Amino acid sequence: MRSITVGATAVVLAVASATVAQDACATIGGQKWAAPADVRACYTSFALNTTLRDNIIEVVNKTMLTFHASTNYQVQAPEPYADDVHEDVLADLAKIQATEYATDYEAHIAVQQAVARLQDGHCVWRNYCFDSAFVNYLPTPLVLLTDSEGVQNVHIAPEAFSVASLEFPDQIDVWQEAVGGELEALSGAQVLAINGADPWEAVEANAAVAGSYQARTTRQNAFFASYQRSASSWTYIFGQFAQQSLPLSDEVTLTVLKENATEPEDVTIPYRSRIGSTTAAFTDSASYFAGNCLAQDGTNGYDYYYSSAPSEKKITGPKHLINAIVDEVRDVDAVLPEELQPQSPLDGSYDVAQYYMLDDVTGVMALGSFSAGSYNQFLESMLTGLTNLKSAGATQLIVDVYNNGGGYICAAHWLHRIIAGPKSTTEPQAGLNTTTRAQPLARAIVESIINGSDPNNNLLYNPINWRALDNEFFTESENWLEPPVEKEINGRVDYFSQTLGNECQPEGFLNTVPEEALFDPTKVAIVSNGRCASSCSLFSVTMAKLEGAKTVVVGGKADTEQQYCGIIGGQSTSFATMDSEVKTAGLKDNELAPPDLLVNGYQGVTWRLGYGIDKPDEPEEWQDRPADLNLPLTKDIVNKPEAIWAAVAASVF
Ligand SMILES: *[C@@H]1O[C@H](CO)[C@@H](O)[C@H](O)[C@H]1NC(C)=O
Ligand SMILES: *[C@@H]1O[C@H](CO)[C@@H](O)[C@H](O)[C@H]1NC(C)=O
Ligand SMILES: *[C@@H]1O[C@H](CO)[C@@H](O)[C@H](O)[C@H]1NC(C)=O
Ligand SMILES: *[C@@H]1O[C@H](CO)[C@@H](O)[C@H](O)[C@H]1NC(C)=O
Ligand SMILES: *[C@@H]1O[C@H](CO)[C@@H](O)[C@H](O)[C@H]1NC(C)=O
Repeated sequence: MRSITVGATAVVLAVASATVAQDACATIGGQKWAAPADVRACYTSFALNTTLRDNIIEVVNKTMLTFHASTNYQVQAPEPYADDVHEDVLADLAKIQATEYATDYEAHIAVQQAVARLQDGHCVWRNYCFDSAFVNYLPTPLVLLTDSEGVQNVHIAPEAFSVASLEFPDQIDVWQEAVGGELEALSGAQVLAINGADPWEAVEANAAVAGSYQARTTRQNAFFASYQRSASSWTYIFGQFAQQSLPLSDEVTLTVLKENATEPEDVTIPYRSRIGSTTAAFTDSASYFAGNCLAQDGTNGYDYYYSSAPSEKKITGPKHLINAIVDEVRDVDAVLPEELQPQSPLDGSYDVAQYYMLDDVTGVMALGSFSAGSYNQFLESMLTGLTNLKSAGATQLIVDVYNNGGGYICAAHWLHRIIAGPKSTTEPQAGLNTTTRAQPLARAIVESIINGSDPNNNLLYNPINWRALDNEFFTESENWLEPPVEKEINGRVDYFSQTLGNECQPEGFLNTVPEEALFDPTKVAIVSNGRCASSCSLFSVTMAKLEGAKTVVVGGKADTEQQYCGIIGGQSTSFATMDSEVKTAGLKDNELAPPDLLVNGYQGVTWRLGYGIDKPDEPEEWQDRPADLNLPLTKDIVNKPEAIWAAVAASVF
């Protein structure tokens, strides 16, 4: 047996060949719910295949070497992230290559954790053979509440039973049986200990491996339950204590003080694993592996001009470039209970953007994402919704971006532009200047495009997509990566493009840009749990640093400084998209090109980095973004958006 530590729990991995008499995946085949130990037994039944390991490492290594813009920066970030971001991922990949793991699962966790230590939600490694194939749940999500004395404690969420009954109607009885029918009475209980230790030990252990955000405080917040406006509903986020993308934990013992109780009691609750919504049905190890572990359609890229490329991969019409975090858990959507949901959105509400009047003077825009069903309708909705709030008398605005992981880059700049109106900070560009890596393979792609390999402008590297600082787009024959700008970052020589202006205006906007500011930006409060990333950060950073908007993080640990957003990037992409660029440019045989992935994997990439506002020669990515206010959560307002907005309005305006 080997023991490795992941998340808050030590995981014991059975060595594959030892005692496996019957097929380890057959036990969970055809089951919707399983014990985490049985899921682990299935995962660890695949002995290490060195061909697959080497392939994964080569793809990740070469993607990091050429395409991910932050690789050298992340070797050691500056303050205030110096303690948080210090990962030499290339060195760690070499170490993993030289380590003997018994199983594919163990090797996967090593690669996944090395990439996660970049603390960059744009740049993650997922292998859907394991990640989110089964999702591990507890019916007791936790929240961090402040009492009337101002004392902060961890609690089981007051809404825990309500949410769990809604989301797990087919499993709640199993949990009830495990806790002697006491599940409902646990809702709201104070948590004195988790597995015998101070709850903060579990919060910190999770923050240490959670990845995705630079600031530790933001990673602490991910442990707890929260909400998000999604396309068709209000979503409940269980938090990383009650939802794991791998079957890491089998059970947890909580020492709780129930409401009005005088004596603490221990309660042990099992985790249960639910099959992922995209996991292919299987009956045994062979069918599990065949259906879930090998490269699938879309794992690798395509030559866009090759006649048998799937038609949806042949890009037509305008591109709307994306900057978005990669979800921690794939395809999970629990619903925020009806009684907690905001009521009566105003006209103009569309998809992830919903508008409410909170009182006579305060309008609210709930914005769960910068991606929506239709790009044009989304931008139109922002204009209509905010105009309607103004007409209804709103002179101040709350923008709720809880768990907004980004989306369309130009939607972020559009929102900045229409709120702040035309001025030097929004015209001719409302966004950040950016740069991308200009390593030799990237330069060769541009050269190939200039040679004629991308006549329909399908490729990101096509010069005509980008403009120089003079605000003019490059011509189709300009190699915008030549000459590369040499920089020394953490003692390593790297190459970047010249500084690019923002490409959004006017093409990425609608025709109807209002002549006047819709709101006084200093009367705008941007509110979240700190988990606002990517295009959400592009919006928040420009609004806060250029326009003086207020920023509020709700429910962070008392006496800590909270960052109001993180993971800025500039533009995000993936290995598969970069592979399409390489293949379309005819450069797949280049020795620097990553090979095709053999496994069902996904590698995210930060492709462009936005330059900062306070320090314009450095990426915004590792600059300070302290929130104006860390607003405590009480049991009366937790996970009730309308009540939170009222508390924000009372505190910041
Ligand atoms: C390892 O994976 C490769 C690629 O899928 C496969 O061809 C090979 O048979 C596997 N090796 C073993 C020992 O299963
Ligand atoms: C990553 O790629 C570089 C360049 O091809 C190579 O020198 C290095 O050994 C590779 N690292 C690993 C871990 O494969
Ligand atoms: C706790 O006590 C308060 C005040 O007596 C009461 O309103 C509340 O219902 C009690 N809660 C429970 C769960 O018994
Ligand atoms: C972009 O760079 C130019 C030239 O250095 C500078 O004048 C401009 O303010 C920058 N724009 C932003 C949004 O930082
Ligand atoms: C571009 O064309 C030139 C001239 O034919 C050739 O030398 C060069 O190798 C080509 N580059 C690429 C990347 O296709």
